[in-house]
Amino acid sequence: MASSERRRAARRAAALAVGGAVLAGCGNGALRPAGREASKVATVWWLMFSVAGVIFAGVLVVLVVSLRSSPRGDSGWAGSRLVVVGGVVVPAVVLVFLLGLTIWSGDDLRREGIDGAIPIEVTGHQYWWDVRYPDHDVRTANEIHVPVGQEVVLELRSEDVIHSVWIPRLAGKIDLVPGRVNRMTMRADEAGTFRGRCAEFCGLQHARMRLEVIAHEPEDFERWARRSAEPEPTPPTDEAAFEGWQAFMSAACSYCHAIKGTPALSEFGPDLTNLASRRTLAAGLLPNERGTLAGWILDPQQAKPGNHMPATQLEPDQLNALLDYLETLE
Ligand code: CUA
Repeated sequence: MASSERRRAARRAAALAVGGAVLAGCGNGALRPAGREASKVATVWWLMFSVAGVIFAGVLVVLVVSLRSSPRGDSGWAGSRLVVVGGVVVPAVVLVFLLGLTIWSGDDLRREGIDGAIPIEVTGHQYWWDVRYPDHDVRTANEIHVPVGQEVVLELRSEDVIHSVWIPRLAGKIDLVPGRVNRMTMRADEAGTFRGRCAEFCGLQHARMRLEVIAHEPEDFERWARRSAEPEPTPPTDEAAFEGWQAFMSAACSYCHAIKGTPALSEFGPDLTNLASRRTLAAGLLPNERGTLAGWILDPQQAKPGNHMPATQLEPDQLNALLDYLETLE
């Protein structure tokens, strides 16, 4: 490679590194914490970054000095002292400090048994998140609603393979392992919508296994929980919705999905009781709109190949009625 090409490649790599660092600091990055746990992680990151920066600068200084000094200088004793201090003492002190810091922070992140913490059961599936609130009798999917300023405990399980949940602005990363329950306490300190994702390769659609955490003011959270806990009227009184309800119950939908208050009880797929209030479909893949919902129902493999939902055969008027019904599920 010619030297000008090499310089260009080095410049590109440097620009990528700086760009990556800047992007990590804005948007939904871990360096813009909005919760207690993420703040701890960010503090550790900045401390490590600062220590590494100081060491890097020190090494550069030593390098420059050694390059400028004469190669036959009689600095034997000073040289071996530098090796002992710079090569053994300083690394030992720095590593012990960083080890202590990470053990202390890790312990602080694993706190359990917080008074009043809201339990939220999150189960990973290929490729979506089942979310339950045992205290509120609510079940939803791909969205975790939390109140600002209050601890919640995510009880993490998996139904198939290992997944991992990561909501960079709120908390660290933790695996969902079949056959066991992992717990993660977190607290959002500001209201907003925070993106999260599956962080462990779990199959074909791993990259499209997203979730959102919506942090509400406490009274808004209670309102959301009350509304989401209400069973849906069965059968619906509205005529168009009634036809859609019939289509839902007679097509294959009810083999996999539950709608609270109706005969559809299967827990295999995402619960649809509050479907119309969700922002996205298919774990963050599509906006929740009538058109995308129609496309999803007719051919889910087109949008997300390898997911476990089969196509549904419906006549156009059946589909329209079904959409009318699904739009009532708030
Ligand atoms: Cu679930 Cu990756």
